[in-house]
Amino acid sequence: MFDTDDVPSNPTLNPHLGEMIGTRLSRRGLIGGALAATVVSFMATSSLGVSAAVAGDNDNDNDNGDDDNDDDNDHDRHRPLLGFTGIAPSTDDTIRVPDGYTWDVLVPWGTPLFAGITWKEDASNTAAEQAKQVGFNHDGMHYFPLGEGRRGNRRGVLVLNHEYTDASQIYTAAQGSAITPDDAGKEKVAKALAGHGVTVVEVAQLSDGTWTHVVGSSYNRRITGTTPMSFSGPVTASHPALASAITPTPRGTLNNCANGSTPWGTYLTCEENWNGYFGTDDATFVPTALEARYGVSKAGFGYNWHKAEPRFDLAVNRSEVHHYGWVVEIDPSSPTSTPVKRTALGRIKHEGATVVESRGRVVVYTGDDENGDYLYKFVGDRKWREHRARRRSPLDHGTLYVAQFDALGNGAWLPLVHGNGPLTVANGWLDQADVLIRTRQAADAMGATRCHRPEWVAVNEHTRDVYVTFTNGSGNTAPVNSGRDPNPYGHVVRIQEAGSDNTSLSFTWDIYVVAGDPFYDPSVPAGQTLFGSPDGLWVDDDGRVWIQTDISNSSQNLASRGYDNIGNNQMLVGDPATGEIRRFLTGPRGCELTGITITPDQRTMFVNIQHPGESTNYWNGLNGGAPTTANPTTVSTWPYHEGRRPRPATVVIRKLDGGKIGS
Ligand code: FEO
Ligand code: CA
Ligand code: CA
Repeated sequence: MFDTDDVPSNPTLNPHLGEMIGTRLSRRGLIGGALAATVVSFMATSSLGVSAAVAGDNDNDNDNGDDDNDDDNDHDRHRPLLGFTGIAPSTDDTIRVPDGYTWDVLVPWGTPLFAGITWKEDASNTAAEQAKQVGFNHDGMHYFPLGEGRRGNRRGVLVLNHEYTDASQIYTAAQGSAITPDDAGKEKVAKALAGHGVTVVEVAQLSDGTWTHVVGSSYNRRITGTTPMSFSGPVTASHPALASAITPTPRGTLNNCANGSTPWGTYLTCEENWNGYFGTDDATFVPTALEARYGVSKAGFGYNWHKAEPRFDLAVNRSEVHHYGWVVEIDPSSPTSTPVKRTALGRIKHEGATVVESRGRVVVYTGDDENGDYLYKFVGDRKWREHRARRRSPLDHGTLYVAQFDALGNGAWLPLVHGNGPLTVANGWLDQADVLIRTRQAADAMGATRCHRPEWVAVNEHTRDVYVTFTNGSGNTAPVNSGRDPNPYGHVVRIQEAGSDNTSLSFTWDIYVVAGDPFYDPSVPAGQTLFGSPDGLWVDDDGRVWIQTDISNSSQNLASRGYDNIGNNQMLVGDPATGEIRRFLTGPRGCELTGITITPDQRTMFVNIQHPGESTNYWNGLNGGAPTTANPTTVSTWPYHEGRRPRPATVVIRKLDGGKIGS
C-alpha cells in the first residue's frame, strides 16, 4: 500500500497563516482542569446497552438515566492517573504490554461467525464464505454491553470496521493478486468486497478471564461492500447525482475507517478513502472538478476492481462515486436492519464520527483525513430525545460546520448551509443536497482552515475538551499544523468549546502534544516518549488520553525518515494534567494500531491490529522482498507464527490483578 493520504487534492489558498513564526506551544494552564457538571445518562433505546464511551448529557434535564455505573467509574483522584511502567519501543513481531498486563487474540480475519464454515489457512475461502467470516484489516470498534450492570462487563456485542484488503494476503498463491476481466477476477473482487465493511459479533468472557466470540449468535452479522443501504437526510438515493442503473438500490460501504456510537445504542461507521476503488481503462476519462476534489482518477489506488466489476468503472457508472463518503448508521441490535447513510453529516473522507451530547443535542465531530483538508462537526437542531420521540433520526436534523483556526488560539465553526455566505444559487449551489454532496468544495468556499490530515476526535466527558489527531502533513505552516513543514510526526490538537458546550460556534485551541524524535526534530521536547503519526484517539472515563499510531509503512523503522528510534506502531497513554505520555503497547511488524473500546467497568480493553505483515520498506529489504500471494510472510507471521500467514485481529487487554486498564 502506498500512502494515498499524502496526496493533497485541495487546490484552494485557504488560510495558510504561514506568516506566523514558530510552533504554538501548549496553553495547558488555560484549558482543561475544571470539571464541568455532568450527568451521565445510560438510557438506551436499542436493546443493547450504551457503554461509558458515549459522552454524557450535560443539560441536567433529569432524564431517567441509570447511572449505577458511576461509582465504579470514578477514578480516585489521589492516585496518579497512569499506574503502569511505560515500555520500550520494539521492532519485534509480537505485542508487548506493561508488566502486570496480559493480551489475547480475538476474532482474527477469517474467523467463522456461523456454523458450517472453516477457516482456510491457504486463503482459499471463497467470497461467499468470506461474507460469513470476520472481515480484513480491523479498524474502529465499539463494545455494546449485553445485559445490565456486571453482566454487561462480561458479555457484549463487538462491532468493528474493516478498512481495506491486502491482495497479497487474501488470495491464494495460485490466484495471485492481479484482477483480470473474467470470472476469476469477479470472484476476487467479490472476496475483497466481502472482506470490507463491518463485523457484528457477540463476545463473552469465560471463567478463566479470557474472551471468546459466540459462533452462530443471533447478533452476528457481516455488512460488506455489497450489503443494501438506504440514504437519509437531505441527499436521497434518487438524487440525480446518485441514480444508477447498475445499483438502483445503493450497495455497500467501503473503506470503513473509524467509528462512533450514539446515545440510542447504534454504531456509526465511516467511509474514508473510497475514491481509490474507482478507476477506468477509458483513456478519454477526465474527472470533473468535483471528482478531482475528492481524488477520483483513472488509476484510483491501483486496485483495478473496475476491470472485473463495471460498478467501479468510472466510464460506465459515473454515479456510483456519490454513494460513498458518508457516515453510515447501523443498529447492532437488529441483524436484519438496513444500514443508513446519514447525509446531513456531509460527504468527505470521514475518518471517524465521535458523538457527544451537549444541552441534550447530539454533536458529531469528524475529520477529513487528507493533507490540506478540514475538521467538521454536526450539531443537532433540537434535543435528540425529542427527535426520537417523533420517530425521526437526530442525525438527519441539524447543521454541519467546518472549523476555522486562527493563529492566536481561537477558532470558529462555519455553517455549511445553502443560501448562507457564498453557498447561494447565484454561485451555483442548487440546494442543501448539493452543498452536502460537494461538502469539501462548500468548506473551501467558506474559508475553512487547511489541516495536516485530521484523523480521530476524542472528547473528555467531564471537561468536554476535544482532542484531534493531526497524523502528519506538509505544505502548510499554520500554527494549528504545529508550525512544522514538513510535519512527518504529527501532533494532537486540543479544542475547548466556548462555555464547555460542544454545540458552541466558537472555541479556543492549543497543541496537546507535538510528536516526534528530538534527535531529528529539536522542537520535540527532550525526554518526551518517542512516537509519531498519531491516529486512533480515545479519552477514557478517568481522563486518560489513549493515542494509537499509524506510521506509514514507507517510513516505519527507517532512519532515512527519522523513524528508526520509534519502533513499530504502538499505543500510548497521556495524562493531560501532567503532560506525561507513556508507551503502553507495541504492535507486530508492518501493522498499525487502531480501534479502541472498553467494557463499562474498564477492566477489559479491545484494540485492533491492522495490516500486520503488509509490505513495509524496512522489513521488505531485510527479509527478501515484499509479501506476495506466494509468500505472504516476508514481513510478519503474527499472530500465530510457525510460518503461518499474518492476520489482522482484535487484541483483548486485561490487567492481571483485575484492575482498570491504565490504572
Ligand atoms: Fe483510515 Fe485516516 O486512517
Ligand atoms: Ca486511521
Ligand atoms: Ca492513518
